[in-house]
Amino acid sequence: MRRKSYSRAKNLSKIKRPLDLMGVVGIQNEYIRNAYMNMLGVIGGDGLEGIKYWRWMTKKVEISEQNKNNILLLLAGICGCVGSTVCAAIGDVKNNSTSTLYRYLMTESEKTIKKIRLPFTPVSHIDIAGWDIQNLSIPEAIENNKVLPYEKWMKFERWLNKIEVMNFPTGNKVETVINKLRQQIRSIKCRYPHHRAIFVNLLPATVPYSWKKESIKKVFTSSVKDYPPDLMYSIAAILENVPLINFTSNDISHPVLIELSQQKTVPICGNDGKTGQTYFKMVLASAFAARCLYVDGWYSLNILGNMDGKNLSDPTRSASKIKNKSKVLEDILGYKVGQKYETPSNIVRIDYYPPRGDCKEAWDVIDFLGIFDMPMSLRINLQGRDSILAAPLIIDLARWMALIHQAKIGGIIKELAFYFKSPMGNHNYHTFQDQILALYKLGRKLKRNYEVTHDE
Ligand SMILES: NC(=O)c1ccc[n+]([C@@H]2O[C@H](COP(=O)([O-])OP(=O)(O)OC[C@H]3O[C@@H](n4cnc5c(N)ncnc54)[C@H](O)[C@@H]3O)[C@@H](O)[C@H]2O)c1
Repeated sequence: MRRKSYSRAKNLSKIKRPLDLMGVVGIQNEYIRNAYMNMLGVIGGDGLEGIKYWRWMTKKVEISEQNKNNILLLLAGICGCVGSTVCAAIGDVKNNSTSTLYRYLMTESEKTIKKIRLPFTPVSHIDIAGWDIQNLSIPEAIENNKVLPYEKWMKFERWLNKIEVMNFPTGNKVETVINKLRQQIRSIKCRYPHHRAIFVNLLPATVPYSWKKESIKKVFTSSVKDYPPDLMYSIAAILENVPLINFTSNDISHPVLIELSQQKTVPICGNDGKTGQTYFKMVLASAFAARCLYVDGWYSLNILGNMDGKNLSDPTRSASKIKNKSKVLEDILGYKVGQKYETPSNIVRIDYYPPRGDCKEAWDVIDFLGIFDMPMSLRINLQGRDSILAAPLIIDLARWMALIHQAKIGGIIKELAFYFKSPMGNHNYHTFQDQILALYKLGRKLKRNYEVTHDE
């Protein structure tokens, strides 16, 4: 059956191309579209014929939707440190033949995922747009954020300048803002008809929200003050059939959002990108657990001086991040660290320290016990770069999400736990081994799906 519709799709591509060029495929309103097609006389003359043909065409367009191999990244918070670094990384691949980006992508690593030979979108086929409340062009944002020196992006400054930065729409009611966001998404998708849009949440950390079960109507009629902007962006993305990656520690798992993603078969994943200190914590904790060494205390200190660091210096905003960073340990070890003490000995601190900018530094002091309960200890000092570590993970995630969307898998994608500090959904993917194996499992599932749908 599938095979049949496929060959028809191939023949149809000859017809689709001229229609596409005339702009028919991009017209959202069905009535205008039909009228336009009839007017063009492309399809048979009278209105009925036009509609009949349009239905036939739409079916074909849906099939080609499934095969879209380009990505349009939609970044909320595009002018921030991470967003602007993602723009530079993609610009580098598109405009610089000596770019080394591929070396740093997990989806390209011969040692891991590449073995499965999945048809990931080439990075040169990724385009970007986004939103920010700062009125900046992307080159201005890169300059302000000081993550990259000018010589790293000067060759493609003009390309970066063309990236569209939209404003976060205003409104009193949630529904107004969501509708405006949907309109923005629709109009940008029209300009990229051969791309699959993927939304990435890169907004600053907010105070934690606790969600209760409520109807979509209740959410839509509430005041914007009752919900974080992340949730409005996320709902708008899902309603527009755009997969969602939540890279922030903000909890967007509102029951309405989860339900919509399942109903509409739109994949979602998050929360909180696992970039530096927590990544190494996960690896080491897995090693302690495998070797049956007892962790008696783990003290983690972070200093960072970028906008994220400044934002996180407010304890109400850093609460979710600290919880995520601490929970990783106990999920892996399977016990509460320091339960014999009166105060916890699993401690995470984040301090804003302006001199360092995006170059964060982290220290870990790990106290552990061996036979006879003899104490030992280990110290780690990470001198990392927050956005340099984050950007390739976002590109990897976007490539995964495009294949998952193409395979028509919706709801929470638990198998992407590897990329997050606090992976969404109920799962047992905690240790390094579990999370890597889950990625393989996902890769093989997608590969099988791809082979079935492309078996000509
Ligand atoms: N860098 C990392 O390693 C890392 C790891 C995990 C999570 N994160 C999270 O990723 C997010 C982004 O990090 P960052 O360093 O780029 O932060 P940032 O503060 O530099 O950037 C956030 C951007 O969002 C913009 N913004 C604020 N409100 C907005 C709105 N309503 N609409 C559109 N834009 C809006 C800001 O103007 C800013 O440009 C943060 O939540 C951070 O905690 C980062």
